[in-house]
Amino acid sequence: MMENVGVYKCPECGTEVNEKYVFCPVCGGKLDWHNLINKENRILLKKEIAPMIKLIEVYNPQVASKAKPGQFVILRLHERGKRFPITISGASPEDGTIRLVFNEVGTATKQLGSMNVGDRIMNMPGPLGNPTKIRNYGTVLCFGGGVMIGPMFWIASALKKAGNYIINVIGARTKELLFFEDKFREISNEFYVATDDGSYGYKGLDFLRKILDNRDIDFVYGTSVATATLREICRITEPFGIKTVVALTPIMVDGSGMCGACRVTVGGERKFACVDGPEFDGHEVDWDSLEKRKRMYTLEERILSVFSEVSGFSS
Ligand SMILES: Cc1cc2nc3c(=O)[nH]c(=O)nc-3n(C[C@H](O)[C@H](O)[C@H](O)COP(=O)(O)OP(=O)(O)OC[C@H]3O[C@@H](n4cnc5c(N)ncnc54)[C@H](O)[C@@H]3O)c2cc1C
Ligand code: FES
Repeated sequence: MMENVGVYKCPECGTEVNEKYVFCPVCGGKLDWHNLINKENRILLKKEIAPMIKLIEVYNPQVASKAKPGQFVILRLHERGKRFPITISGASPEDGTIRLVFNEVGTATKQLGSMNVGDRIMNMPGPLGNPTKIRNYGTVLCFGGGVMIGPMFWIASALKKAGNYIINVIGARTKELLFFEDKFREISNEFYVATDDGSYGYKGLDFLRKILDNRDIDFVYGTSVATATLREICRITEPFGIKTVVALTPIMVDGSGMCGACRVTVGGERKFACVDGPEFDGHEVDWDSLEKRKRMYTLEERILSVFSEVSGFSS
């Protein structure tokens, strides 16, 4: 069961009221989430920004005051729920909120997508992982793919503020799955769009070679849940000798370096993405082993997804 029990303090008369009321039973004052006594981990804003992609803002002043671009939280929605990581796409220490953008791909993310404003995430430790190294590199090419366009916007904005010349590239399978285009245009020195099917912008990522051919680029930063896309970007940048940092998304469980689920091989060494990453030098990553490990539970995930749809069981 989702933990949604909350107590509201009526703004008109100060009475403490159980959330089943929309109006205060004493004075008739209207109650909404602003009046919640315990707002911790409540969803305060929810928007669908592309098909199956949602943006939420969650109240958690502790995480919001410490979060930096590139870090993530691990969500657990309810007692029986699994832990799953989502990268922080923005934080407002003043409002005590963090922003998350997520794709509804399986049981946990679909359940998060079904939660509404006022609902409470059971726990959400963070910020986890190392922040992106924001500094003045010179000319930086930033690539955000699919749902990771969300966190990429926060990272690219910070790199722009640090004085870099920013070439932003966003990519998705099709035009419909793109979002934040206008926001990216505002912070870009140059801006490009790519789709796998060519329905908008460049088809595929080959065009990046031309950009790299025509410019002196000091640093490339890439983020995408699709490992093959990051691998392709690294393949493109390697012959140019451009330092390429990528944010990896291996399977994670505890997010604290204890369980070993997120291990990756980088430069021949074993690393844990949750504590040593999630960002690594893309030219040093053992991509074959990462792809193999990410596919390890595909069958179980499908079975669970079908089972939960049929039975209403929640993971
Ligand atoms: C550090 C980190 C940051 C992440 N940030 C985001 C984010 O900001 N937004 C977002 O939408 N997702 C993000 N992810 C991926 C997200 O954690 C998974 O999509 C989620 O765990 C899926 O859980 P589920 O129960 O909904 O689906 P499942 O049933 O577990 O999986 C459904 C499908 O998604 C695939 N999948 C599951 N986990 C991953 C993964 N880690 N990488 C790629 N494919 C996966 C499965 O192979 C399967 O095909 C991140 C992952 C990591 C490790
Ligand atoms: S998620 Fe367990 S060690 Fe990283």
